[in-house]
Amino acid sequence: AAPCDLYKNGGTPCVAAHGTTRALYDAYTGPLYQVKRGSDGTTTDITPLSAGGVANAAAQDSFCKGTTCLISIIYDQSGRANHLYQAPKGAFSGPDVNGQDNLASAIGAPVTLNGKKAYGVFVSPGTGYRNDEVSGTATGNQPEGMYAVLDGTHYNDACCFDYGNAEVSNTDTGNGHMEAVYYGNNTVWGSGSGSGPWLMADLENGLFSGQGTKQNPADPSIYNRFFTGMVKGEPNQWALRGGNAASGSLSTYYSGARPTVGGYNPMSLEGAIILGIGGDNSNGAQGTFYEGVMTSGYPSDSVEASVQANIVAAKYATTSLNTAPLTVGNKVSIKVTTPGYDTRYLAHSGATVNTQVVTSSSATALKQQSSWTVRTGLGNSDCYSFESVDTPGSFIRHYNFQLQLNSNDNTKAFKEDATFCSQTGLVTGNTIRSWSYPAKFIRHYNNVGYIASNGGVHDFDSATGFNNDVSFVVGTSFA
Ligand code: AHR
Ligand code: AHR
Ligand code: AHR
Repeated sequence: AAPCDLYKNGGTPCVAAHGTTRALYDAYTGPLYQVKRGSDGTTTDITPLSAGGVANAAAQDSFCKGTTCLISIIYDQSGRANHLYQAPKGAFSGPDVNGQDNLASAIGAPVTLNGKKAYGVFVSPGTGYRNDEVSGTATGNQPEGMYAVLDGTHYNDACCFDYGNAEVSNTDTGNGHMEAVYYGNNTVWGSGSGSGPWLMADLENGLFSGQGTKQNPADPSIYNRFFTGMVKGEPNQWALRGGNAASGSLSTYYSGARPTVGGYNPMSLEGAIILGIGGDNSNGAQGTFYEGVMTSGYPSDSVEASVQANIVAAKYATTSLNTAPLTVGNKVSIKVTTPGYDTRYLAHSGATVNTQVVTSSSATALKQQSSWTVRTGLGNSDCYSFESVDTPGSFIRHYNFQLQLNSNDNTKAFKEDATFCSQTGLVTGNTIRSWSYPAKFIRHYNNVGYIASNGGVHDFDSATGFNNDVSFVVGTSFA
């Protein structure tokens, strides 16, 4: 049986069920998520291929062909209409208009389930979903459970990549006003063994790995590509449980009393639902969400074991992030295709990445400035990094969404900023997107290089000319 059938049979029914990858009830045939495309702003709902089945990724691919798509709604499959929408401004503002958070790219997290392609929700910093007007989720000190299937390799140390119960006001209203799955390597509050990332519970004003806001050595660093994280709570009791979502069973990292610090016993839950952000709309974190639910009542360990078995049976597996692969080791030129600019190539002048007119009779220095060696992605080995031919050890990276040529400092942030995936060009050739911000593509704008979203808040995000400006022909290098 599917997760929500199992929870229902166990007497702790789902009150929210979110999965862009599959149906979470055996009988569910309704919408899983909505995508919105850049070309005309229209939306479509993606449904399962069959009752209880995997999402119809082909429907998304055809709707989004030749343009960009964002995940605009993640539907609640429980029948309670607890859908997740673009998160509004909270104590912290998001990067989109009116302080809203960004919507996730629809193509940032491709996977297969039992061999069928589906897409998860790739949360870049600044991305978040929320519903403040919910029905049936736990409030006050009521019991609840929740799980999320995540990408264990996609995380950071910012606050807070969460899924679960939070404030209805989008602000921090005090200890015990949240209960959510957290995933990442933030060490401001709790931590686990090793250097992370860890599963923790965000109970507000604290990420808890165990009883107090301190290190719990029984909370392990996670190395699984697919990870099941579970949090559950009831009066003066809560538990943190996790395991490899692709095989095996769950382990209990903590099960015991509520924190003794004031405010967590009893809890003061408010029942809003968040994804990718903290309760106060802290939005610096990153992570990937494939599916998750929240229940009414404290689920038993045995029901959770059967849910984990169902997740394993769904056979989550990786698939290529590239629809138009490049060849690692090749030296390439990256030619602009925008009419009127198509004698230009992606090049650098010092640290600035720009486009310059290059021909076979250009000076050697310019030929070298516009030549790039394709390397295995520093931040994700499925994608690519572009090393400068004239400055070995320096790579194209984005910083404040502008491209720069910087030497590799070996930090996680640099490597991720320098990693790009290659897809079929929106107009022609290749479109090269940021791995860490998959809604943003390499674009030239006023002949300078950026990662740009289609119609976003920056001038360089202008929808005018976007498709041409992000379509490049990757060819033989000049030098
Ligand atoms: O509890 C950690 C975080 O602290 C919460 O998510 C946020 O609301 C507050 O900043
Ligand atoms: O380019 C966007 C972000 O700006 C990068 O990820 C970060 O390094 C910088 O703050
Ligand atoms: O980068 C050159 C041009 O600058 C782009 O084609 C256009 O979008 C912008 O005005």
